Amino acid sequence: MILDLESGTQRFLVTYSPLQALEPYISGQIMQIHHSRHHQTYVDNLNAATANHVRALQENDVRAQINLQQAIKFNGGGHINHSLFWANLAPADTSQAKPESAPKLTEAISAKYGSYDGFKDEFTGVLLGLQGSGWGWLVKNEKTEQLDIVITKDQDPVVGGLAPIFGIDMWEHAYYLQYFNDKASYVNGIWNIINWDTAEGRYLGGRGGLKL
Ligand SMILES: [Fe+2]
Repeated sequence: MILDLESGTQRFLVTYSPLQALEPYISGQIMQIHHSRHHQTYVDNLNAATANHVRALQENDVRAQINLQQAIKFNGGGHINHSLFWANLAPADTSQAKPESAPKLTEAISAKYGSYDGFKDEFTGVLLGLQGSGWGWLVKNEKTEQLDIVITKDQDPVVGGLAPIFGIDMWEHAYYLQYFNDKASYVNGIWNIINWDTAEGRYLGGRGGLKL
């Protein structure tokens, strides 16, 4: 994680190295561009918008504050979603990428969806049914502790009483250079690199150093 001291915006670095570590499911080229350009742009734009918002607050300019809300929502969401995404992936040959690394979560998944395969099929169907750009998430309702699969459009983050366990980026920039329009193969492959260790920690209530 790196911290921009000027703005206070924290940004997770990818937690695996080299960037080719997720191959063959996600190419090093995609990882490089996705992390250093796409995520970086969300961070840069969030920093600019929050700095302008601070200025608008100091100047008591309510119209300017309102005008900045969409930029903060979109770029702040992009930053949160990508930070979660890097942390919820792991190289396929590691123990973290095995569902056995998440005993409590997989137990809850089986209870709700019948089996791990049943869950995977349902999640895959939701991801492939998404129209346009967005994300698919496994979430836990913080009040009822029930699991659910939800979609967020564009860069909307999971907020309210739902805690994201892990999410899948369904923007074309996440797969197009490698899979072109074959979204199904991207989704099929990504099941091999979910970081179940991180997912278990989030299911049990951990959120790391950031409230993401
Ligand atoms: Fe993305």
